[in-house]
Amino acid sequence: MSLQQEINKRRTFAIISHPDAGKTTLTEKLLFFGQIIRSTGTVKGKKSGKFAASDWMEIEKKRGISVTSSVMSFPYHDFHVNILDTPGHEDFSEDTYRTLTAVDSVVMIIDSTKGVEPQTIKLFKVCRMRGIPIFTFINKLDREGRDPLELLAEIEEVLGIESYPMNWPVGSGKRFLGIHDRFNNQFVQFKGDEEEAMIPLDELAGTGIEENVVYRDTLGEIELLEEAGNEFDPERVSRGELTPVFFGSALANFGVQTFFDTFLQFAAQPQPRKTDQGLVEPSKDQFSGYIFKIQANMNPAHRDRIAFFRVCSGKFERGMSVNLSRTNKSIKLNQTQAFMAKDRDTVDEAYPGDIIGIYDPNIYQIGDTLIGGKENYQYEELPQFPPEQFKRVQAKNVMKAKQFRKGIEQLVQEGAIQLYRQELNDSIILGAVGQLQFEVFEYRMKAEYNVELEFTSLGERIPRWIKSENFDKRFFDSRSMLVKDRFGAYAVLFENEFTLRYFLENQKDIELVDLLEENDYQGFQSHQ
Ligand code: G4P
Repeated sequence: MSLQQEINKRRTFAIISHPDAGKTTLTEKLLFFGQIIRSTGTVKGKKSGKFAASDWMEIEKKRGISVTSSVMSFPYHDFHVNILDTPGHEDFSEDTYRTLTAVDSVVMIIDSTKGVEPQTIKLFKVCRMRGIPIFTFINKLDREGRDPLELLAEIEEVLGIESYPMNWPVGSGKRFLGIHDRFNNQFVQFKGDEEEAMIPLDELAGTGIEENVVYRDTLGEIELLEEAGNEFDPERVSRGELTPVFFGSALANFGVQTFFDTFLQFAAQPQPRKTDQGLVEPSKDQFSGYIFKIQANMNPAHRDRIAFFRVCSGKFERGMSVNLSRTNKSIKLNQTQAFMAKDRDTVDEAYPGDIIGIYDPNIYQIGDTLIGGKENYQYEELPQFPPEQFKRVQAKNVMKAKQFRKGIEQLVQEGAIQLYRQELNDSIILGAVGQLQFEVFEYRMKAEYNVELEFTSLGERIPRWIKSENFDKRFFDSRSMLVKDRFGAYAVLFENEFTLRYFLENQKDIELVDLLEENDYQGFQSHQ
């Protein structure tokens, strides 16, 4: 098969949702279609102590090791599917965001009884920023849900994206009849535990469905959508401006397969990616890609580190030599793995869109570009995300100061956590997007550097960077704490919105920004 054919087949995506919306349940159904698992329902059930295949990291966590998202790959019909798992709420970290840089499309699950929830908004924003195509699955139709028109309005208003319902629910909960599939011109009848029945719309007469009150009630809504709704425009979908919306029930396995088939048809194949020397097309012969995540201790027996690598162009072959752009050194890639949740097979070849795990003998950094051959370019820097939680940290045992410094330096460089120093007393403050990052950090400091830590929480804070060159340092206190980031740039950690607003009103001479841009940092490089 040619490189282009391999590219055309690939669909690399992530499923995002607020906890409990049904991500695990849906993922499991997709793995079932891909024949990765033989039955569903049996492996599901957090309470029963059994886990879905994608939940293996949860098991690892219970054993005291915190790990993060995994990758699941499988062939399905004419496609090669790569699902990147993003962890749920309590596991939230920068890794989740970075994982979203490695996908070409996203499936957003919304619980029909709850609507758009906070975690969905955060994840959605990142996808939106990158113009990734977003497909929406409104789940739990077997329950009494909210009015579908209201749900669509909420998606459009809260998330700021236009929507196109590919199908429309007829009733919900006890009165749930099925879905009117606008895209395939059929009615999909919900039959509880029995398999769904598909009836072409022009054959509905005589089935009794047309006479049903719930169906007749819904016809008005469908007409409204036809007349006043958006047009289905695949171009706009691919630019992330329009989200196709599917209704269904992951648990009842209703509407899931039609959703998946249609999704794969319109989901983006591997897209060109930006480098410092322009766009690189996936079809470029030369192999290249970048590391979006480094994970330690996946296998505690080996204490290994695995770099998650997204193939962006060309063909990967095991044993090939590549150039690490940052250092311009050649490396032979012998130890590489494909992913199916916890089972890691050796991978011999991979194509654009695929994620491979590369054994990391402590030489890689997040964002590193690897290229086969002589050219040297660098994939676009991974975006930085402002941390939300902050803790002061020190070694429990002062005698361990040296290992403490070394551990912090290395883990911070790896991108595991953000480092700040308080201007007032030079104490060390760590910042993270989610609690999990602190846990992983603490665990690794102990396991890899033999240092136990003592944390003092500063709670959730709002960081802002100072753009002004000269400013008066007298105006800062513990509520608006002046710190330097690891590059030596000044930032302020505000206790809450109120202190931030107060500061903005009273210190008009000090210019604050959400994050500094890469070129703002050039003056600070000497501090590194
Ligand atoms: P998450 O990964 O997004 O956190 O959600 P997960 O799939 O674990 O689903 C959260 C809960 O919602 C689970 O119930 C699950 O069975 C239920 N669920 C998922 N899809 C549907 C659906 O289509 N309809 C209905 N009615 N429920 C659905 P739980 O009681 O919290 O867990 P469990 O004990 O059943 O595992």
